[in-house]
Amino acid sequence: MTGDLPKAQPTPDGTLTVFSERYGELYASRHGAGRQSRAVFLEGSATHLHPSPRVLEIGFGLGLNFRTTLKQVSGRGAALAYRAFEAYPLPASVLAEVSAGEAHPLWLALLDAWDAGVLRGELELGGGPHHLRIDFADVNAADLPKGWASAVYLDGFSPARNPEVWTPPLLARLAASLASGGVLATYSAAGAVRRGLIAAGLDVEKRRGQEHGLIGKREFLVARRA
Ligand SMILES: C[S@@+](CC[C@H](N)C(=O)[O-])C[C@H]1O[C@@H](n2cnc3c(N)ncnc32)[C@H](O)[C@@H]1O
Repeated sequence: MTGDLPKAQPTPDGTLTVFSERYGELYASRHGAGRQSRAVFLEGSATHLHPSPRVLEIGFGLGLNFRTTLKQVSGRGAALAYRAFEAYPLPASVLAEVSAGEAHPLWLALLDAWDAGVLRGELELGGGPHHLRIDFADVNAADLPKGWASAVYLDGFSPARNPEVWTPPLLARLAASLASGGVLATYSAAGAVRRGLIAAGLDVEKRRGQEHGLIGKREFLVARRA
């Protein structure tokens, strides 16, 4: 981060996001951050239906996808294991500002432990039915679990601004982190991303944003491991 801390800004569905000075983009859709999180990541990956989801996320960012997932999964009494990578964490104060009103105990514990976890390089919370581990590291330099994830949330900044999280070798490693039947979901529908996911052996489906209640998002991708 350079300069002042980013300020939270509202999106039309009432959720907040912030602008990244580093990448020159918002962390989530300006047309509705919460709506995109649900339609693309939670529902796109079928995590909302899985009896005990194991989610791997590339980049944790503001934790919006985690909060969306935790809320839905805990609301139906299911267990959740969530692993995430984040190379450039924002301070806890920014996460607290965008999540004002969020009262899930695991989220509150995360806010308490965040800044110390960033200094240590990792954060692990849980003990009950919900388990969270975040590695504050570049995903390209990290070991990924193999055959583990019921869902991969691929949520870097755009391929143009954040190309290193969309390379064919990383897409292949993310495909290998999926359990059979697992689904990678991403908001990007770029041709190179689609081709990289196909080359990684996944069955790729393009979904139309409009059919999933998304404004300003023509298409997104879900890719299943057979
Ligand atoms: C669009 S934001 C993610 C938003 C987040 N999923 C949420 O729900 O709030 C992209 C994130 O990817 C992180 N990132 C970019 N390159 C990365 C890398 N090589 N390894 C790990 N994280 C990375 C960025 O720092 C940023 O936090």
